[in-house]
Amino acid sequence: MGKLKIEDLEKIAEEARKKMTIREGGGRAKITVHMGTCGIAAGARNIMNTFLKEIETHDVHDVIITSTGCAGLCNKEPMITIELTGQAPVKYIQLTEAKAKRIFDEHIMKGKFVQEYAYAIGSEKIL
Ligand code: FES
Repeated sequence: MGKLKIEDLEKIAEEARKKMTIREGGGRAKITVHMGTCGIAAGARNIMNTFLKEIETHDVHDVIITSTGCAGLCNKEPMITIELTGQAPVKYIQLTEAKAKRIFDEHIMKGKFVQEYAYAIGSEKIL
């Protein structure tokens, strides 16, 4: 590897800052992917990757993505929970890559939850 220039260091620092904003938040939105055994078996990793790609493509810096264990609903996996600041968390179930993209576009980007894929809002079951 050649000598690092100041510009290179600035670029590296900027990349690191971007990643930290996503991880540490101060975010207006949080995506939690349920990654218990059954979630992973049902494709949760692919859902996680889809959201990571969407975050990168849309170049958003105020969305946190994280993972958690299973929600106790094996047959509803893969599942995610989306929380927007000041709104009740929404649980989405039986996700595919296409559904995840639509949820990102409508819920995360436009603030409108996708009722067809939602299982519960807060503690209220809607499906
Ligand atoms: S192992 Fe399936 S819901 Fe926990």
